[in-house]
Amino acid sequence: MKLNQQQIADFEERGYLFLPDVFDPTEVAVMRAEVPGIFAQERDEVWREKDGKAVRTAFAAHTYNEAFRRLAAHPRMVEPVMSLVDGPVYVHQFKINGKEAFDGDVWQWHQDYGTWARDDLMPEARAMNIAVFLDDVSEFNGPLMFIPGSHKGGTLEAGHDLATTSYPLWTLDKATITRLAETGGIVAPKGPAGSLLVFHSNLVHASPPNISPWGRTIVYVSLCHVDNHIRQFKRPEWIAHRDFTPIEPLPDDCLRELVARAAE
Ligand code: SIN
Ligand code: MN
Repeated sequence: MKLNQQQIADFEERGYLFLPDVFDPTEVAVMRAEVPGIFAQERDEVWREKDGKAVRTAFAAHTYNEAFRRLAAHPRMVEPVMSLVDGPVYVHQFKINGKEAFDGDVWQWHQDYGTWARDDLMPEARAMNIAVFLDDVSEFNGPLMFIPGSHKGGTLEAGHDLATTSYPLWTLDKATITRLAETGGIVAPKGPAGSLLVFHSNLVHASPPNISPWGRTIVYVSLCHVDNHIRQFKRPEWIAHRDFTPIEPLPDDCLRELVARAAE
């Protein structure tokens, strides 16, 4: 899937692109069907909210689940990022964020590259996230919020928040968010399951708790240019991967093929 000139220009200006309906209902169903089994597992990669029950984030499912292995190398995920970072990419991080109905907790304001630079010594912000909605995302179920254009200011001062949620994060303070939002405003792209969000690793983002009765599962694949691989291996391998092999995109029907195989 190639991006056109207008999409590339929009990305450079705002720091994100919203692409509705990229995966069809069959492809979404193939992935959704795998989530309860992954979330039910008691393993280090499955990180729960402070209540110890609801799943906050499940890391690295592409290393042990066939549908998500295929997603991580899907051409509709990988090719747009290859064109934006201008070259081959590897998977730096893979996560399925639950944001479960009623219990999904806040993600404080942050930049992903802030964490990748400080914790993993990734040399440059030559990496980005591509996210696929596995549920419909509305104003009610904890949508991602972005400050458009905030990727242009580089990596900002941050504090290491070890207390607010179950997951440690380098977060931005209120004065910084107030200043950035005065010029950029705040947007929350919403849409049906199967939609994609591509966003720059320095884009400032957050999401509110989910107090609605509707879950909001989003899969995030963080792809990094192979030359820009991390230099420090402080975090577990399943949070910050160390396999820098360039991804070879799979055929476009690789998820649908799983359905056909199951029916045989
Ligand atoms: C993140 O910023 O890494 C996750 C935010 C979310 O899933 O709401
Ligand atoms: Mn983030």
